[in-house]
Order: sequence, then structure tokens, then C-alpha cells
Amino acid sequence: MPSPARVAVLASGGGSNLQALVDRFHGRPDAAARVELVVGGRAGIGALERAARAGIDQVVLDGRALGAVVFAQRLLEELEVHGIDLVVLAGWLQLVPAEVVARFRGRMLNVHPALLPAFGGHGMYGGRVHRAVIASGARVSGATVHLVDDRYDEGRIIAQWPVPVLPGDTPETLAARVLAVEHRVLPLAVEAVASGISEEVFADPAAFELVSAPAPADASILAILCVPSSPDAPAGD
Ligand code: GRF
Repeated sequence: MPSPARVAVLASGGGSNLQALVDRFHGRPDAAARVELVVGGRAGIGALERAARAGIDQVVLDGRALGAVVFAQRLLEELEVHGIDLVVLAGWLQLVPAEVVARFRGRMLNVHPALLPAFGGHGMYGGRVHRAVIASGARVSGATVHLVDDRYDEGRIIAQWPVPVLPGDTPETLAARVLAVEHRVLPLAVEAVASGISEEVFADPAAFELVSAPAPADASILAILCVPSSPDAPAGD
């Protein structure tokens, strides 16, 4: 059995996506991946508490306090020392240094709380995303997992999972509905990349029970994975 891919999770907040990865992979001898390191954007965040509870190594790297050069050096060092194969940005709010992106090209994933390429880009994070979705009148939102490249939210899309935008939604209610599917799609995407799956379509109508809304006629759109065949494949095309 191949050893599990060694994953680093970079998080700046509560860490519920980190928890979804831990719940999926830890304690399973046949897991395709395992979280070996949590990098926190600042001290005292929920993600670091979750890391401690799960017995995962952790480090705080605050780019503003360290400065860009030291931050990049420290981050690369930590990833190297822990033998990291795959980096997951899960609610990470700092810019990832270009040298780190280059080193992990094809091996760094981000989870975004909307259906990219809509509602992404610089400054689109947290409540701003959901406010923009509601203001646009869109009837569908969702979660996207994509490869990280040099431009915000523009790398190749690995997986998406839609949810409806319901009448009367607030940014908070929509965020909660999207977060619930982030927790489902992120582990699937990490597992697929870690095990080198080249392409897979999930059709799980049960996903829509989460949101008490009718499943779309074509349930096969629930999540689509497209993983580049080589770690050096260009992100986005
Ligand atoms: C998620 O909605 C994620 O998409 C966004 O930030 C949130 C992080 O939540 N980038 P958590 O820290 O994983 O609970």
C-alpha cells in the first residue's frame, strides 16, 4: 500500500475545513492522505486548536509580522522539514509567496466559497463573496476546489459542488450552506489529487438533502474532478 500523501493545511480561521480533512483521513490505515502540518496565519485561531486536538504539528507564520522574505523562507522550510507533498489552503487569508506557489505547482489546492470563475479574485473572500452572490441575483452558488497559480482564484478547477441560493438568504445563511458542501468536496478533491485520479464525476443526489432543495435534473453536475496528469501540468488553460 503506498504511504499517504503528506498534507500541510494553511488556515487563518476556525479550521472547519481542516477538521473535515482530519475526519476523513486520520485513523484510517488505507487513507490516501494525512495532515502532517497546520500553518496558522496568526496565534489563537480555531484551526490551531483543532490541530492540537488532533495531535498535528503546527506553526504560526504571520506574513505581516515577519515580512515577505522571511515569511517565504520560513514557510518553505516548514514544508520541507515536514516532507510535505500537497498544500491545502483552507480559509488562508495571506498571499502565498511566488516561490512557494512555484515549488508546489500542481500540488497546492484552495477551497473557495463560490462557483469560480464567478465571484473570485482579489478581495473576494468570506462574507464579501456571499454578499456579491446574493446581490447578483444568482440562483446557484457553491464550493470550488482549484489549483493555486500566480493569479487569485484562477488556477485549474478540480472540483465544484453547487448549492441553491434561496429566497430570503442572508450572507450568513448562504455561507453556512456553502460551508457544508466545502466539507464534503474538499476531502474528495484532496483524496483524488493524492491518489492521482485523472478524472472522476461524482453523482451523489444525497448531497442536496443537505440544503432541503430539489436535486437538479442532472445530478452528475454535483461535483466534477479534473486532475492534471502531471504535477507540472500548467494550471488553468
Ligand atoms: C471557508 O468558507 C473557505 O472557503 C474560505 O474561508 C472559510 C474557512 O472556513 N476561504 P474554515 O476556517 O475552514 O472553517
